[in-house]
Amino acid sequence: MLEYEKIRQICSFLNDKCDVEPEKAVVLGSGLDKFSQAVEPINEIPYSDIPYVPVSTVQSHVGSLLVGRLNGKVIAVMRGRVHLYEGNAPADVVRLLRSIIIWGASHVILTNAAGGIAPHLAPGDLMLIEDQINNQGVSSLTGFNDERMGTRFPDMTTLYNEDCNTDIMACAKSVGVKLHRGVYAGMHGPSFETPAEVNMLRILGADVVGMSTVLEAEAAHHMGAIVSGITLVSNPAAKKGGPKITHESVAEACAKGGDSLIKLLMAYI
Ligand code: HPA
Repeated sequence: MLEYEKIRQICSFLNDKCDVEPEKAVVLGSGLDKFSQAVEPINEIPYSDIPYVPVSTVQSHVGSLLVGRLNGKVIAVMRGRVHLYEGNAPADVVRLLRSIIIWGASHVILTNAAGGIAPHLAPGDLMLIEDQINNQGVSSLTGFNDERMGTRFPDMTTLYNEDCNTDIMACAKSVGVKLHRGVYAGMHGPSFETPAEVNMLRILGADVVGMSTVLEAEAAHHMGAIVSGITLVSNPAAKKGGPKITHESVAEACAKGGDSLIKLLMAYI
């Protein structure tokens, strides 16, 4: 079956479940689930109930789609995502997000936890994504291109929307949240990087490194949606002689540092 047909089926499933159309989609990364408590729920659907949508196998990802209102706006919140490293194909990773865009969301806000590479970034800091390096070895646009979703060779010059970034920066200032700006590098994972890989990414121009987001951003931009991304720095990226990085320590740092990201999202939306 064509990817577009699967996505259409998901859309009609979501339409049957919720009698509303979301304006925005928010994807919550590791340890950032607390944001969902701020949303006034209309309906919540486990990923396992949604046709053709893979289930997240990562502990800290709840694995459900929350549709609800925030400041009166209808939003769709992905409480966790699926990754390439779980064994999913690139199209699987972005299928639900693509469906939410066709359902009605014209703006997607991607959040994630990542290791800080740039020396000025410390755990707990927030970084607005200005651009990305997809170092996952594959694009989410791989394979047959269905023109109903987007063009074969999309321009990526302004992948992360600059006008929205200006607004998000202004919003951060108005609510007293410090927000850095920089480049997110997406690695395949699931291992954290070696120190040599982190050095390589720094030379390439990356400020933070994670294992998600880049495929979602590509697919959403391909479909003409506005893309924004915010990173919570959960740990210093690997370095020789540095501390060991564990998933638990990342999740713990997010639980502690996530509040400012949530405050910013709530103010911005
Ligand atoms: N590397 C990759 N992904 C991550 C990291 C990291 O250091 N921290 C949180 N997600």
